[in-house]
Amino acid sequence: MKYYITTPIYYPNSSPHIGTAYTTIAADAIARLRRMKGDDVFFLTGTDENAQKIIRTAESCNMDPHSYVDGIVEKFRELWKLLNISNDDFIRTTEERHEKVVQNIFNRLYEQGDIYKSEYEGWYCTPCETFWTQNKLADGKCPNPDCGREVELLKEESYFFKLSKYQDRLLSYIQENPDFIQPASRRNEMIKFIEGGLEDLCVSRTTFKWGIKVPFDPKHVVYVWLDALINYISALGYPDGEKYKKYWPADVHLMGKDIVRFHSIIWPITLMALDIPLPKKVFGHGWYLSREGGKISKSRGNVQDSFELIRRYGSDAIRYFLLKEMQWGVDGYYSEDDLVEKINSDLANDLGNFVSRTLAMIVKYNDGKIPVPGQDTELEKELKELSSSVKQAVEDKMLACDPAAALEFVWQFVSRCNKYVDETTPWNLAKDPASRDRLNTVLYTFTECIRILGIFCAPFMPGVPEKIKPLLNNQDLFSDWDQADQWGVLQPGTHVQKGEPIFPRIDVAALMAENPPEQAAEQMTEASKEQKAQVKSQAMPELKEEISIEEFSKLDLRVVKVLEAEKVEKTDKLLKLKVEMGQEIRTIVSGIALHYKPEELVGKKVILVANLKPAKLRGIVSQGMILAASQGELLEVLSLSKDIPTGAQVK
Ligand code: MSP
Repeated sequence: MKYYITTPIYYPNSSPHIGTAYTTIAADAIARLRRMKGDDVFFLTGTDENAQKIIRTAESCNMDPHSYVDGIVEKFRELWKLLNISNDDFIRTTEERHEKVVQNIFNRLYEQGDIYKSEYEGWYCTPCETFWTQNKLADGKCPNPDCGREVELLKEESYFFKLSKYQDRLLSYIQENPDFIQPASRRNEMIKFIEGGLEDLCVSRTTFKWGIKVPFDPKHVVYVWLDALINYISALGYPDGEKYKKYWPADVHLMGKDIVRFHSIIWPITLMALDIPLPKKVFGHGWYLSREGGKISKSRGNVQDSFELIRRYGSDAIRYFLLKEMQWGVDGYYSEDDLVEKINSDLANDLGNFVSRTLAMIVKYNDGKIPVPGQDTELEKELKELSSSVKQAVEDKMLACDPAAALEFVWQFVSRCNKYVDETTPWNLAKDPASRDRLNTVLYTFTECIRILGIFCAPFMPGVPEKIKPLLNNQDLFSDWDQADQWGVLQPGTHVQKGEPIFPRIDVAALMAENPPEQAAEQMTEASKEQKAQVKSQAMPELKEEISIEEFSKLDLRVVKVLEAEKVEKTDKLLKLKVEMGQEIRTIVSGIALHYKPEELVGKKVILVANLKPAKLRGIVSQGMILAASQGELLEVLSLSKDIPTGAQVK
């Protein structure tokens, strides 16, 4: 089966950021899965260089546009490489192979009467590269809700493309092919928009020279959106190229919701006019918003250096976070705090810990050799069935462009694997020679789970198989998706090793030292604090995964009394508390200083998670954690009103 997937081609007016990276990573994960399934995949990305805003930015840097874009395009290529993006081609719209196709198409549309010459009088938003009529403007500004910037009045001779002629045909196509525009909410928006009437589109400009010349009238350059959309076929060598014949029509054009309109109107009408089949799906995902409010974008000044983020956390972790946090069809939130939390909980704890602890047991109980398994019990059968259902669910979700849901399923398997360790208690089996056969089955199953997890993670985090491979004796076992529910692949007798953790925990204290909270707080304006409070207080945090009463009972919660409290020097969030728990005095570092003055806490009886591993914060060892309820900017430490003695258990 052939499978053709594309990302938008990005404007190289500024370096790529987390938002632009999302679409590329999502497309990459889908492409990787299809390849692992055995499909013949073509995955295209690139840059959209003939935009007016490129000249403006280059001018503002005193550079000629060519050198300017060359520099930024390199950054795109570099970032995609660091993020392990497996694109098969990278098209630049300033390449000759693209220009030629655009000119041919423009000619043809003109010759068949779909493009005609007239005069454009109306508004143009350069940041959005969009024409607007007077009645669409919002208070005289760009009506795009994410833009709202100044528009410019244009009056120039232009060529027009007869969109109106194709309006009814397009509408029927969208109505008859419910999968063409997805999700349905965007499809409905598009239907409404088209029903409102399509005006012919201005498709050339004369007030600047940067761009592809109209072949028969070279004082005009082709409108950037018509030029850009054609990349999806010019890269394949339309009209005669082998790749074009093989891969077109595209299986999915993936993009952010902001540009679905161009892909569901201008693009299909161009293809209809040329008598070319339409792409099978145009999918518009949500945006990454910052916690402080607003879309992550260079113009809002809320982007973080992606290269620095990769250096700090690694490419797999960034990929995982971005894929996981964007729920299907809606916007997602990005913050570095959330990223760190996810890395520590999902990657270091759930996934990484499973791999290290099980391999450590094989080293300890079987000299690092995979044992010969005995008879399966219901537990192994259950794991096997789950691997099949997860495999199918992941495939379905990825075909529906929903990597977040696909990862939910993968993590169902991760959790089940961890539960299997707790249920089988290999440390008890190892004590009893009569249980040797059972122990062997359990240890063997661990290695198979690790292998399968390597396959499940491969499309999302291609570095995971690379990290697991040396632990399983360097065997290449992770590229065939169909082996994700085949069991018994690993050979008994194979040597394994514990190795380094595949996802080390992020040391929050060290990170805070690198970027002290008071500095971060100073950087936050009053307005953004308010926005942050609003954003945070709107939504109830998602419920966590169900746990059993046994898992809950592992928590040792105790009543403690605060004896002393003081601020931790050079921080604005941390308080150091001395608490009494029965006969014992403990030191606790708690991030509640923005909500309590030290003296307000002294004498209070509060609840301590007493069996949490001690952690060092700002050089102080914290021996537990105080419980508090919080939402948005509100926070209250849980305290007792009755005089229950300290050390008492909370159950
Ligand atoms: N050049 C046009 C696309 C032409 S395609 C024929 C363009 N480029 S862009 O550089 O502005 O990139 C837009 C795309 O980047 C969005 O559609 C989306 O895929 C991605 N994103 C940019 N910021 C984003 C977020 N904050 N969140 C998620 N994706 C975002 O438009």
